[in-house]
Amino acid sequence: MVSAFPKAARAAAAGFAAAALLFAAAQTEEPAPRSAVPKPVGDVTEIMKAMTVPASNAIWSVGRNPPADAKTWEALRNNAVLLGESGNLLLIGGRAKDDEIWRETSLTMVEAGALALKAAKAENPDGVNDAGNLMVDACETCHERHWRR
Ligand code: HEC
Repeated sequence: MVSAFPKAARAAAAGFAAAALLFAAAQTEEPAPRSAVPKPVGDVTEIMKAMTVPASNAIWSVGRNPPADAKTWEALRNNAVLLGESGNLLLIGGRAKDDEIWRETSLTMVEAGALALKAAKAENPDGVNDAGNLMVDACETCHERHWRR
């Protein structure tokens, strides 16, 4: 024979379990998926300082100081990626300017980064230099038009 008490206890326990399940369901409900539109973090100066400037310095230094070992070539490949991707980042969100020179010089930085990466993978300092020459025109042309000093 089963007493009334355990029955009530079982019912209460079942109720509690159901409530716990509901609570857990509410807790684990997926948030609405976020839009995959890129959202800029830094402004143009911050992109220049964090990415474009150190990357371009590394690429320019190859002429007088070519990488001597695998580690420095790897660092150069990383800088080539930084340079090219910084060009891409100038083309998104509020950083992008509706202007031909902005677009063209940003795209040239992307191109110079890709060229530098290819040359660095081949451990070819002359190729990295060519990429550097392409890049320097882009810096100057964009600054002439858009850097208000
Ligand atoms: C698409 C345009 C564009 C390109 C390409 C570009 N820059 Fe800039 N850069 C700017 C603008 C705009 C500013 C000024 C931002 C401001 O003051 O609001 C700037 C600022 C700078 C600054 C000043 C940062 C500071 O401390 O205030 C340096 C240094 C710089 N750029 C270096 C470079 C180099 C090196 C390259 C090429 C490898 C380059 N930039 C390519 C647009 C560009």
